[in-house]
Amino acid sequence: MSSRAVSPATDLLREQLRIVIVGHVDHGKSTLVGRLFHDTGSLPDGKLDAIKAMCERRGMPFEWAFLMDAFQSERDQGITIDTAQIWFKTKKRDYVIIDAPGHREFIKNMITGAASAEAAVLLIDAGHGVQQQSRLHGFLLHLLGIRQLVVLVNKMDLVEYSGARFAAIRREFSDYLEGIGVTPSYFIPIAARGGDNIVERSALMPWYEGPTLIEALDNFQPAARLTDLPLRLPLQDIYKFDDRRILVGRVESGRLSVGDKLLFSPSNKTARIASIESWNSPAPVLEAHAGQSIGITLDDQLFLERGEIASLEQDPPVETNVFRGRLFWLGHEPLQVGNSYLLKLATREARVTVQAIERVFDADDLSAKPAVEVPRHGVADVILRSLPLLALDEGRHIARTGRFVLGDGTNIVAGGIIDMEGYPDQRELVTKRSSNIHKVEHGVLADARAERNGHRGGILWFTGLSGAGKSTLAMAVEQELFRKGYQVYVLDGDNVRYGLNANLGFSPDDRAENIRRVGEVAALFADAGMIVITAFISPYRADRQRAREAAKGGLHEIYIQADVETCEQRDPKGLYKKARSGEIAEFTGISAPYEPPESAELIVDTGAMSVEQSLATILHYIEENFSLLKVNHGNGA
Ligand code: ADX
Repeated sequence: MSSRAVSPATDLLREQLRIVIVGHVDHGKSTLVGRLFHDTGSLPDGKLDAIKAMCERRGMPFEWAFLMDAFQSERDQGITIDTAQIWFKTKKRDYVIIDAPGHREFIKNMITGAASAEAAVLLIDAGHGVQQQSRLHGFLLHLLGIRQLVVLVNKMDLVEYSGARFAAIRREFSDYLEGIGVTPSYFIPIAARGGDNIVERSALMPWYEGPTLIEALDNFQPAARLTDLPLRLPLQDIYKFDDRRILVGRVESGRLSVGDKLLFSPSNKTARIASIESWNSPAPVLEAHAGQSIGITLDDQLFLERGEIASLEQDPPVETNVFRGRLFWLGHEPLQVGNSYLLKLATREARVTVQAIERVFDADDLSAKPAVEVPRHGVADVILRSLPLLALDEGRHIARTGRFVLGDGTNIVAGGIIDMEGYPDQRELVTKRSSNIHKVEHGVLADARAERNGHRGGILWFTGLSGAGKSTLAMAVEQELFRKGYQVYVLDGDNVRYGLNANLGFSPDDRAENIRRVGEVAALFADAGMIVITAFISPYRADRQRAREAAKGGLHEIYIQADVETCEQRDPKGLYKKARSGEIAEFTGISAPYEPPESAELIVDTGAMSVEQSLATILHYIEENFSLLKVNHGNGA
């Protein structure tokens, strides 16, 4: 059934590598492809002769590029069965050339997963040298994460096979690539027309000692086989037969066997595989692997829904409700912050909101700029947020579950790749539970504590950038409330990090744990009847939300607001300076994200208000919400 069955490269067991060839239209791509086919002996019998004969009939000189044209028109007419790909073979493996008609199309295909390349060949014309488009292509490959690159300096015949010319181009282009963090694996001087240094080493460039193109390509590594990656089985559907439930889906990566313990995310339920159902196999099926659509039954009747991802326990997907997507925007209307779309990720669907647009890459020169919207055909890094937890992977880790599509109504408006840099995996935080513990009731009721204190207990959760004024205001509020007879205490980031959280740093995971502990401690303080003021950057919304849940209604979020510029100017601890110089990594606002509250109970803009004004605002808020005199006033107490 596969087109490969009729191709010269018939052996399915042979290794495959998918490459893309990019370069300026005139830099000889078609000629190179023609030569690659011919010189590796990959052409169907008689093909070359047929084209040569055709040239003779029409009285035009033969060009290698005609081969490519012939493939192209066969494809257009649907003659070749495998319409998306053309390939050639070496002793070592088969190569699939991913078509890249234009760079937009290519970006779109790569990002949406329509076609993905594991290595790239970039062509530069020896006569024209490095051009803007060469740089663009270099950057593009970098942007799409292609790490294996050969740069070919073509048409060496037109510069008299000059080693000096090659060296100059090599130097110039290496410098550029180095600047964007790309190290090409090889630079090779070739003359595609004559086949120099493609398969056969050229006698005309004895000064060149490196590999031929084919040797270089054969040195590249294929991406990990899907079956070697961790198991991912997104649930497509759950069928009920009698009292049995059969979970069906396609194994996207990895493998599974009867008896394996599966973890379903994001519900975090587990059960063992009791059977792998088979419809047309006489013997019981005991194993399945990536690429197969299967049905399984479990040893425990879990309630599961379409969209969950099954994995093995030791290598589960990430759980999060916020992630960065590098996306290709197809919508007619621009993408804007605050818009919401339907996310489709494997078999899961969920509404997501655009929380931020980090950068938009210019479609023509690919320069990255901050922007307020993403235009049609734009490529951008955006932060997306959902209400429910999602199970997903980073695109660079597992492509199938690390990729998503956004829909708007019935239209697909974007395809994207997931990147979690700067965001924690929330799995641990939602699943860690001790067993065999039971809650004990207090004999003293909250109301009794409030009566004695004259105010209720609760949490004033200050959040904001470093230098926004959280600690200053927290300490001032504490002093003032204490003077008025309140039971009050400040939990401050720097202080808590000296003791309780001395083992935590500033990675996304550590910050999440920092806030989790503080949220729990603050909830205990509040339960004890005290007013707790917490002064933590607490940059992630999800973490603050968990603190809110721990406080069971007793948390008031107070956004101590000041923009980065203001905080950087104040720089009370000299940390922004260090962050700018790279001395401190992952510094909030500079090299780590801050997600402002969406519905804080109170916003205190310290950029606009003095300390006294800010203090008064907060004190007023506390009295209104916590003092029994005020709170009970309406009840006539
Ligand atoms: S949080 O992000 O986990 O909430 P927290 O409020 O506890 O941070 O600690 C922030 C304090 O740690 C800052 O006021 C600053 O003094 C110090 N600090 C040291 N390194 C960093 C960093 N990389 N990012 C932010 N604050 C840092």
